[in-house]
Amino acid sequence: MSGGAGTRLWPASHAACPKQFMPLVGDRSMLQETIERTYDLPGFEKPLIVSSGAQGPLVQQQLADGGYSTAAILLEPEGRNTAPAIAIAAAWIAARDPAALMLVMPSDHVIANVTAFRGAVASALGAARDGRLVTFGIQPHYPETGYGYIRKGDVIDAANDIHAVAEFVEKPPLARAEAYLADGRHYWNGGIFLFRAGVLLDELDQHVPAVRAAAVDAMAQATMQDGFVLPGEAEFSASPNVSIDVAVMERTDHAAVVPVDMGWSDVGSWNALWAVRDRDPKGNAVKGEAVTVDGAGNLIYVDGGPPVATLGMRDCVVVSTAQGVLVMPRDRSQDVRGVVEQMKAAG
Ligand code: GDD
Ligand code: MG
Repeated sequence: MSGGAGTRLWPASHAACPKQFMPLVGDRSMLQETIERTYDLPGFEKPLIVSSGAQGPLVQQQLADGGYSTAAILLEPEGRNTAPAIAIAAAWIAARDPAALMLVMPSDHVIANVTAFRGAVASALGAARDGRLVTFGIQPHYPETGYGYIRKGDVIDAANDIHAVAEFVEKPPLARAEAYLADGRHYWNGGIFLFRAGVLLDELDQHVPAVRAAAVDAMAQATMQDGFVLPGEAEFSASPNVSIDVAVMERTDHAAVVPVDMGWSDVGSWNALWAVRDRDPKGNAVKGEAVTVDGAGNLIYVDGGPPVATLGMRDCVVVSTAQGVLVMPRDRSQDVRGVVEQMKAAG
């Protein structure tokens, strides 16, 4: 899944180049890192990419640069959130083999321990073959309200540490997130899923039939152009705009969770990026042409913009790119989305 806008990482991430196309942490872009995680695993087909129309050329360029081939690149006429994106992928796969498993991965996460990730995928295969919708559970360490929360239920497969999902709550308000963190029984939903393509379509049919119908109709009308698969526009756009978490994961009786400790981060904000980058002994993370003097806990990120010097600043973020310059206290990172909207409104 590579269709998000990554607004909270402005001005590095912007409409023409969202964060999944940028090398935020390593040398490869987040999309390339994601492909790399499973590219050479035995039993895996080449990846199927679902992106939105305008991003097609960027996806193609990055695949070529990385030397990757794909099963197909599906381009949505417009972003309608993750349920329709996953549904058209499921329809594409199920048309070839409804029993095939699909591993759904966001294209914009950091996973430091790829071996642990691959181990968790291997552990989840049996449950997914048995018709479960398997999610990957991350131990929470603060009350994040931007994630889904999973309460672990009964053991399904002790050898592989697979549990039923007793409850799935997408993006709870802060008070509930705090309670979930305190009770120690909840995981974060890593946003990565493993299930049979046919099972996902059946679940959609049960809980949000309009999403399945739109996806199947759109793929029945799909055309090929410049190496892309273009789902039928009118059919796709008839889909409700809803996430997979709300459409299916909160409602299904067949969810399972495999806990995994893999150095996972969603890198959804500048603060999250600071947390996963290498830092000096004073906690400063610096990229590009920048110096930070008598400061601590700062993220200075220069990529294509003027060089930056900071003096005596603590816990701040300074970003300098060709798109613009951002300066803020690090703990205001979640509010960047609002700033971008304000700038858009101001023209
Ligand atoms: N193709 C396509 N089309 N991709 C999309 C679309 C779309 O319309 N919308 C989002 N994506 C991609 C994003 O680029 C990202 O890689 C992934 O799908 C997940 O979307 P996000 O918008 O980043 O979701 P989220 O972070 O708010 O929430 C999800 O992930 C969390 C963990 O990172 C949920 O699954 C949460 O439950 C989970 O905790
Ligand atoms: Mg996300």
